[in-house]
Amino acid sequence: MICVLFLLRLLVFIRPAAEALDNGLALTPTMGWLHWERFMCNIDCDKDPDNCISERLYMQMADMMVKEGWKEAGYEYVCIDDCWPSHQRDARGRLQADPKRFPGGIKKLADYIHSKGLKLGIYADVGKNTCAGYPGSLGHYETDAQTFADWNVDLLKFDGCYMDWTLLGEGYINMSKALNQTGRSILYSCEWPLYEWPFKQPNYTAIRETCNHWRNFNDVYDSWSSIKTILDWTASHQDVIVPSAGSGGWNDPDMLVIGNFGLSHDQQESQMALWAIMAAPLLMSNDLRDICPRSKGLLQNKRIIDISQDPLGRQGYHTIKVDSFEVWERPLSQNRLAVAVLNRQEIGGPRGFVIRAVPGWKICDPQCNVTQILPQYKELGVQTFKSEVVLSVNPSGTALLTITPISRFRTYKLHWQDTSVRHKQETIL
Ligand code: GLA
Repeated sequence: MICVLFLLRLLVFIRPAAEALDNGLALTPTMGWLHWERFMCNIDCDKDPDNCISERLYMQMADMMVKEGWKEAGYEYVCIDDCWPSHQRDARGRLQADPKRFPGGIKKLADYIHSKGLKLGIYADVGKNTCAGYPGSLGHYETDAQTFADWNVDLLKFDGCYMDWTLLGEGYINMSKALNQTGRSILYSCEWPLYEWPFKQPNYTAIRETCNHWRNFNDVYDSWSSIKTILDWTASHQDVIVPSAGSGGWNDPDMLVIGNFGLSHDQQESQMALWAIMAAPLLMSNDLRDICPRSKGLLQNKRIIDISQDPLGRQGYHTIKVDSFEVWERPLSQNRLAVAVLNRQEIGGPRGFVIRAVPGWKICDPQCNVTQILPQYKELGVQTFKSEVVLSVNPSGTALLTITPISRFRTYKLHWQDTSVRHKQETIL
């Protein structure tokens, strides 16, 4: 009896607030590549054939994904964003790819991507036009869903531009149904809450039932200030959005911009660590044909990817902010915990952060194993409730840890002792 009660309690604890969209997809956060942040709406293939939005770009990215270990690391979807279609629908009212930039058409591109063991994503909009002014799907949901299914597309990113906000919910739900009716498994990536937030608090129960992931906030840019704004927005709305995440449906803080121009290596590590903590889709927007080995190593870091893809499927959250250190944690399977300590002080050098146990404030009770993953991998060994763990964190960098309890009863307690952190900092510096 006690056992049954315990199991029931565990189920309530683990299950997210609502049922996920029941299409069997995105059981862990989606991994792949999406063109927007890096390549935007570059349609000038005469002047810039290597970087314009064309079938060549996706084929080359797919080639790189296989050749350079991305696929093996778990990155699976190669995704088209805005600016792929022709400005006119065809005679039967169907969307068609720009004939000059996609001479083979999307179906042929999908065949190519599938031949590499990868999946193809496409982009459309719930309203009259896409954000860049291409034809939207309003009034054509069934036709467009069927067209994407006929082309063997595997993911749809559905934007929310040019739409009356009061009709957003209806539009996103209808497209979800239309996709379902095609009978093809098409992962459904929404921007519904992003467009609703300016007017009202979105209904995350409905969103989770409708979409496999959903954008809540502004587009990511290739800059540290953009990453910080996304983190701050997420932390300040976590009570509303974190409970909605779980297997089958995820909050989407937008693309990984690692490997581009705007982030220092420490900042790239921070984005990777925090996106894993947030159980975010890992959709890179970079140039896989030209990426530095350090960024590549970071994006393919198995220990971080394991946190992102953890089977417990719970999104992490911000816990404390002390002396310009921000601590985030994510519960993992087998009672483990991932902890990220972000140094938000952007002046000076590395600073020490101490996680310390004092009577009544136990880091690990009775014992745990601590592994540091970032800034470099280090086994910090077995810790007891008497231990203190000292981390050195660069400005705008992140220390990432996993904590594994060692206990006969597989329970753990973890507390952050902020006053000791403040005190200890001086002695460590
Ligand atoms: C919006 C979306 C972006 C991208 C562009 C394309 O801004 O939020 O992610 O898809 O549209 O125009």
